[in-house]
Amino acid sequence: MSRVALVTGGTRGIGAAVCRALKDAGYTVAANYAGNDEAAAAFTRETGIATFKWDVSDFNACKAGVAEVAAKLGPVDVLVNNAGITRDGMLHKMSPEQWYAVINTNLNSVFNMCRQVIEGMRDRNFGRIVTISSINGQKGQMGQTNYSAAKAGEIGFTKALAQENARKGITVNAICPGYIGTEMVRAMPQDVLDKHVLPLIPVGRLGEPEEIARCVVFLVADEAAFITGSTLTANGGQYMA
Ligand code: CAA
Repeated sequence: MSRVALVTGGTRGIGAAVCRALKDAGYTVAANYAGNDEAAAAFTRETGIATFKWDVSDFNACKAGVAEVAAKLGPVDVLVNNAGITRDGMLHKMSPEQWYAVINTNLNSVFNMCRQVIEGMRDRNFGRIVTISSINGQKGQMGQTNYSAAKAGEIGFTKALAQENARKGITVNAICPGYIGTEMVRAMPQDVLDKHVLPLIPVGRLGEPEEIARCVVFLVADEAAFITGSTLTANGGQYMA
């Protein structure tokens, strides 16, 4: 029986690459998504990966969603918390909506999702949880007090949950991607990208979603049992934490 992996925000960007890589590595994959039905349908047509729609910022929706995945595919062995949004703006111009949207979708979602799977993982003495944080949770980023706070919060959460479950066969790790060529990064003002981001990346380019997916496959392997509470950076040398 192959292990069941659930990836939030799994039909686009980094999440889609993670789903594909896990499928190629032999996992039974479930891709959660929030809103874009068209992208989800196209993703399933193309990959054969099952998609499940719910909002990860809603605790009860996560409860129902994870139960549906378990009923269809089996209990979740691997959770990849990938879903995330940006609502960039300087703090002196930021609305409460911008703040709460990012904290709810990027950070509270990690509690909402982990809470659904952790008891089963503890009962079965196996689990892999990987949360996609960000370089901007490590170094901070102007225009992103909300996002940087959420992403730094994910790293603290990861370290605490790793300690709680170290004796239960469960590893909990974070990955901090740098600037990856996804819709999220391409939505930035082009002049900011050209002037303030690309020149700071020593390898001289944006990352590829597949380069992050590779990190996930590494961390969730059965053989990665001794790696827990770690933060794996993949940022082209932009920030060496
Ligand atoms: N580094 C340094 N300077 C920056 C900058 C940055 N990342 N972003 C903006 N600036 C500069 C601008 O060039 C501008 O300088 P000048 O006045 O000299 O031209 C000044 O800050 C003000 O910028 P704006 O005129 O754009 O002001 P604004 O209030 O309209 O917007 C902003 C400010 C919200 C920060 C906007 O510039 C922005 O969205 N910047 C991008 C922020 C960013 O890096 N987001 C990352 C998105 S990708 C992601 O989050 C994925 C991940 O995990 C890495």
